[in-house]
Amino acid sequence: MKLVIAVVRPEKTNDVLEALYRAKVKGITMSRVQGHGGETERVETYRGTRVQMSLSEKVRFEIAVSDSFADAAVSAIAEGGQTGEVGDGKIFVLDLERAVRIRTGDSDVDAVTPVGGTS
Ligand SMILES: Nc1ncnc2c1ncn2[C@@H]1O[C@H](COP(=O)(O)OP(=O)(O)OP(=O)(O)O)[C@@H](O)[C@H]1O
Ligand SMILES: [Mg+2]
Repeated sequence: MKLVIAVVRPEKTNDVLEALYRAKVKGITMSRVQGHGGETERVETYRGTRVQMSLSEKVRFEIAVSDSFADAAVSAIAEGGQTGEVGDGKIFVLDLERAVRIRTGDSDVDAVTPVGGTS
C-alpha cells in the first residue's frame, strides 16, 4: 500500500477531486494548509527592504491506496492540479505499513479498497 500526499492550489481542488473520481480513487482526506514553495517576497521597512519567506494557502490531500492504484492517483492529481505556473504543488508517495477499516476490522488492502469496489 502507498500513502499519497499532495499539496495543491486551493482553486484546483475540484479539478483534482474530479480526476481522482475518474481514476476510481474513493477514499480521500483533504485539509487546508499553509505552505512555502521557495517563493520570497520583499517587505519594505523604514530602514530598507528585507526578504520574507512567504506562506500561501494550499490544500493537502492524503490518499491511502493499494499499490495498483498509486500511479493512477498520482497521475490524476498531477493532471487535475496543473496550471503550469510556479507554485502548482508537490506529490509525495510513501510506503504505507498498515490500514484498518474501523467498522469491520478489515485490514490493509481490504481496508483501503472501497466496499463494493474491485481493488
Ligand atoms: N520539499 C517540500 N516539502 C514539503 N512541502 C513542500 C515541499 N515543496 C513544496 N511543498 C509544498 O507544496 C506547496 C507548493 O510548492 P511549489 O509548487 O511552490 O513547489 P516548487 O518545488 O517550488 O515548484 P514551483 O517551481 O512550481 O514553484 C508549498 O507551498 C508547500 O506547501
Ligand atoms: Mg515554488
